[in-house]
Amino acid sequence: MSDDRVREQYEAYPYPPRDPREEAKRLIEGSPSHRLEIDHYIFAGRRDWQTPFRALVAGGGTGDGLVMLAQHLADAGCPAEIHYLDLSHASRAIAEARIRERGLQSVTFHHGAIEDLPRLELGRFDYIDCCGVLHHLADPAAGLRILAERLSPQGGIGLMVYGEFGRSGVYPMQELLRMLGENDPAERRIETAKRLLRQLPATNLFARNPVLGDHLRAGDAGIHDLLLHARDRAYRVSELIALIDTAGLAPTALIEPWRYDPASYLADPKLLGPLNALDRWQRAAAAELIAGNLKTHIAYAVPKARASQAVADPGDRSAVPRLKDGNGIEIARGLRPGGRLTVKADGFEARFPTSPGAGPILAAIDERRSIAEIEQLLAEQDPKRWSPAYFAAEFAATYRLFNALNRLFLGARG
Ligand SMILES: C[S@@+](CC[C@H](N)C(=O)[O-])C[C@H]1O[C@@H](n2cnc3c(N)ncnc32)[C@H](O)[C@@H]1O
Repeated sequence: MSDDRVREQYEAYPYPPRDPREEAKRLIEGSPSHRLEIDHYIFAGRRDWQTPFRALVAGGGTGDGLVMLAQHLADAGCPAEIHYLDLSHASRAIAEARIRERGLQSVTFHHGAIEDLPRLELGRFDYIDCCGVLHHLADPAAGLRILAERLSPQGGIGLMVYGEFGRSGVYPMQELLRMLGENDPAERRIETAKRLLRQLPATNLFARNPVLGDHLRAGDAGIHDLLLHARDRAYRVSELIALIDTAGLAPTALIEPWRYDPASYLADPKLLGPLNALDRWQRAAAAELIAGNLKTHIAYAVPKARASQAVADPGDRSAVPRLKDGNGIEIARGLRPGGRLTVKADGFEARFPTSPGAGPILAAIDERRSIAEIEQLLAEQDPKRWSPAYFAAEFAATYRLFNALNRLFLGARG
């Protein structure tokens, strides 16, 4: 399959479809490339965001990751320089309009392919976003190596690739739709796909997959991207870890962490025992096999040489806990002491026990207090309850759960 067909597809159907006027109403946030995640999984929660930051958004598309990153960095007062690269002019026009709508000044737009980066000479980057792109390349491993070579030694990368099991049924549908008219014009292929979707038997693998919705939510572009793509492939966790390794990088996280933990799905110690004996990424691969519903994999990765120093350490008492999505007081209000927290993802519902101290700890998180200062505050409020040992155990349990849920991160005082 030629690169031209991938480019033509994204010229005709920029994906995901976005209306720049919506920027006035909402900021689309997600992973990878949320600033709190970047800080935690690449810069050990120690980055001073007042210092210059160079980022590349490779295959930036219609701009979701770009807009979020540029806005987060502007909000943090960071002197940022962000480079956007994509091979679709139509996608770039939408991304550019979204950045303009927000009045953001930090972005430079480039037209081209990841494979062109060596001759574009854009320099080295502290961070590279590559979300939903590598799986469309003729040679994803070569593409990731090109990106890795453009990282500064202290930098890191945020990736998203498709997951195999959550996309169950997609590739048989793509094959079938190629049989139904591979060389038809795109509009006719979309009509054929719609007709086919209406008539699929209930036994069809795609019809039986409840976690896919792009063909229902994202119009013709969604149907094209999912079922008529010129070139895409999906990865298992083990394949993604191998891909990252061949680029000289080491993974620091899979997002959301709880979804990559077998204990989120199984309680039987006889089953968990052998899985817990595996290394972290093998455990994640096992979780994927158990869950069966992961349709994407989001990973952070850094050059191998500094893999052990890249992730924030909850044992560092000077670190400042930060919450994504809402403030600690609100989250604490919704928690009964020691109650369970329900989390839903792609048809799976998990209920996690919270520790009794989670509420007061979350309520004390204000983006400024360090872990040590939170302990001091709680001990002043109720010295009998908050002994150093009690705080240490309760903070560890709260951090473990809320970090696994992708809500709690560590940073430096900014
Ligand atoms: C599914 S979209 C994802 C866009 C964006 N990263 C996001 O997450 O919303 C894939 C994008 O990758 C771009 N793309 C595909 N192959 C590329 C390549 N070799 N180099 C640069 N961009 C590429 C496409 O033009 C398209 O805009």
